[in-house]
Amino acid sequence: MFAEPAVGTSVRLHGWVRRARSSGGLLFLVIRDRTGSVQVTAKRDVLGEEAFQKASQLQLEGSLELEGTVATDPRAPGGREVRATSIHVIDAGAPFPIFKDQTEEYRLDKRHLVIRSSEHVATFRVKAELLAAFRRFLAAEDVLEMTPSVLTGNAAEGGSEAFQFDYFGRPGYLSQTAQLYLEALLVPNERVYALTPSFRAEKSRTPRHLTEYLHLEVELAWCDLDSLLEFIERMIATSVAEVAQRCAPELKELGRAPEELTSLAPPFRRMPYSEALDRLKEKGFDVSWGSDLRTAEEAALTMEERAPIFVTHFPKELKAFYMLETPSDARTAEAADLLAPEGFGEIVGASCRETDIAKLTERLRANNVDPAEYEWYFEIRRHGNVPHAGFGLGVERVLRWMLRREHIRETTPFPRTPSRHTP
Ligand code: 4AD
Ligand code: MG
Repeated sequence: MFAEPAVGTSVRLHGWVRRARSSGGLLFLVIRDRTGSVQVTAKRDVLGEEAFQKASQLQLEGSLELEGTVATDPRAPGGREVRATSIHVIDAGAPFPIFKDQTEEYRLDKRHLVIRSSEHVATFRVKAELLAAFRRFLAAEDVLEMTPSVLTGNAAEGGSEAFQFDYFGRPGYLSQTAQLYLEALLVPNERVYALTPSFRAEKSRTPRHLTEYLHLEVELAWCDLDSLLEFIERMIATSVAEVAQRCAPELKELGRAPEELTSLAPPFRRMPYSEALDRLKEKGFDVSWGSDLRTAEEAALTMEERAPIFVTHFPKELKAFYMLETPSDARTAEAADLLAPEGFGEIVGASCRETDIAKLTERLRANNVDPAEYEWYFEIRRHGNVPHAGFGLGVERVLRWMLRREHIRETTPFPRTPSRHTP
């Protein structure tokens, strides 16, 4: 912040109190604004009795305006401080209710205040830069941003996990994916994406599930699985490296070495599901063909990896109805999950899309879904079908891995989980 002006310069600042301490006629403050923090000292005989008294009432997070002179002080962080010539208290503030060693539940109840911590400020700056980097990459790749609705009449990824609500007397759902709308928008635009909240009504209390998360979804025409995976790994390596460069101080503050994130060179490893089962067997996990990989198994596959890995060609029954059957193997889907290294789990789900209406119908029936609900989706297939593929990336999942956070909730300001939707 205030590091810029030279010693001897007069400055005018406004901000919030991060620390306050007084001793006799001297007040020590650390003041924070969006650019950083600085130590301020104020003397009673400089401010005058009344102003000094008022300034002494400032609580943590109280707000103020001040004028002063920049001076050297070897004991101050950054070696400089501001010696106040006047302090105008804007809001002295009530005693701040957040301090060390409070329970996690209490901190979640007070989330609207906890997000003032330097850790949260750094986290959300990294998140903003990550979103900006994704958007720059997609724009450079000529992929157009679309704005599909999140209120919908279909529950695309499987009815049981959608939040349902009353839409003027008819069932409405909160979107789990923008994919089906993107497939419609793909036809006139060829390359489209959306960045929207997705909702999952899963009662999974795990460190990687939110009931609302930010979903980056891309849909590309004339695209096969190889080109899709190549696109994904380039997008992730480029965007993560840009964030590491732009947010080096924030990453260091959060305990992550930026260099670890600038060196994720593509190609990422590709491992067919059947090979993953063989590797797991070597590691003592006996997963039978057809079973999904659980958290512990994903962790075992990625513990020693430095970059994410693709697991491809899962049994199609494990995957959503819209995934294309592998042309050379009717048992598997032409699809991949991208797993973050060190056991952070799935960050991207990707697939080529099934264009055959009969197969889509059959898969929906197998999932006990009435194909009639998807009539509008089939109609897209009846008018100028083309091979296409796409993926969905969980923004908070990527951040959890980038920042090595224990719990995904630390990557979003107001986390939504089965036990919490306030504040
Ligand atoms: O694998 P999913 O369910 O795929 C889809 O929804 C596709 N229709 C996306 C597409 O192809 N357009 O979800 C995609 C990603 C996952 O890989 C994961 O990163 C994230 O969304 N995700 C979650 N993130 C946080 N909390 C949850 N409960 C999540 N569920 C999925
Ligand atoms: Mg998935």
